[in-house]
Amino acid sequence: MKADLLVHSAAQLITAPIGTGPLLGADLDRPVLISDAAVACVGGRVAAVGSTAEVLAKYPEREAAAVLDGRGRLLAPGFIDSHTHLPFAGTREMEFEARARGERYEEIAAKGGGIRSSVRTLRDTPEDQLAETVTRRLHMLLAQGTTTVEAKSGYGLSLEAEGKQLRAIRRAAERSEVEVIPTFLGAHEVPDEHRGRRETYIDLLVEEMIPAVAKDGLARFCDVFCDRGVFSVEEARRILLSGRKHGLEPKLHADELADVGAARLAAEIGAVSADHLLHASDEGLAAMASAGVVAVLLPGTAFTLGLPYARARSMVERGVAVALATDWNPGSNMSSSMPLAMTLAVTQMRLSPAEAWMAATANAAYAVGEGGRLGRLQPGWQADFCLLDAADYRHVPYHYGHEHVRAVVKRGRIALDGGDGWRCF
Ligand code: NIG
Ligand code: FE
Repeated sequence: MKADLLVHSAAQLITAPIGTGPLLGADLDRPVLISDAAVACVGGRVAAVGSTAEVLAKYPEREAAAVLDGRGRLLAPGFIDSHTHLPFAGTREMEFEARARGERYEEIAAKGGGIRSSVRTLRDTPEDQLAETVTRRLHMLLAQGTTTVEAKSGYGLSLEAEGKQLRAIRRAAERSEVEVIPTFLGAHEVPDEHRGRRETYIDLLVEEMIPAVAKDGLARFCDVFCDRGVFSVEEARRILLSGRKHGLEPKLHADELADVGAARLAAEIGAVSADHLLHASDEGLAAMASAGVVAVLLPGTAFTLGLPYARARSMVERGVAVALATDWNPGSNMSSSMPLAMTLAVTQMRLSPAEAWMAATANAAYAVGEGGRLGRLQPGWQADFCLLDAADYRHVPYHYGHEHVRAVVKRGRIALDGGDGWRCF
């Protein structure tokens, strides 16, 4: 048979075992590892995975349209970054500095910094410029091995400016190999012009913004920052149910700063994911496990803000599906690196390297509703993967701060091939 793309002789391959459904409990630590591995791709999908001998017996090298030699490399699914605030404008290094002087994230936000400061910058940025910036960020993500990214609005906080962010995402996605999954996060904060009468902003979200975003097909998910000092559980419920009525599936920024019961709300309404969860209660986690809500853990944020890490071990033990993401944003985590998120997961949350890999790939796909199509090197799944400069999967989170990605394949096509000695930046 003829492969469109054949990758052979990889030192090691890591993927989730064949199957469907997120990896739960002890299964998170049981990936499939194959040495001297190969993958054949046909029509943008994985056609065969196995040892080089097995795959070449079915898909001979001489018949393949394109070939990559994986010698000395790790072959792994592309990262799925299931939580980012990608279309932001401007950066906030002054807050980074202020925190080093001892100011807290919430204090900075209360003074009009934080999200509201990014909102002011975003509103002043033309859509063309924003689309250009997002396009560059997508190239950067691809070079770091991220083949799918969820991207939230939430720095516009008006119909016009949220629409601008979501349109910029769409335009950038058309110019990039990276697959982008857009989320409407109009409930990220109450904007300056509605301070003191938050009800009117929530009415605006429910009555105008959500219907308009849904009608224009600009987002797949609706997210709410449900936390101390932001949106309450009651407000979040109203917003998310309205989103669902218009076809936007619910997600939540949950219990990051305090336990406000957001994890429980995520379970109650059957959210696709609840993210952050640094302060989520035992009861909230148990409810998430029974309702099948994916926990998206963002250790880069706890690292940046000096907050306690989410209780990843306890989540895994309770049978919660755990995914890892960056939370890339200009305030609480200015990092787009999934390998760094894995390093922090291992060193700070005590996931094993194998668990970190599965949380960043197979389980991350479920956090964006695409577990049946993405995140695994499995026949029939989309052929999205990387070759990394490592002969052992553990090496990638272990050797942190080094760029390991050498080649990236998206939809069965070579999106980046650095060859030997290639550097991303
Ligand atoms: O996910 N937690 C809420 N929102 C972002 C921070 C956004 C910002 O500070 O600009 C987050 O950490
Ligand atoms: Fe976030």
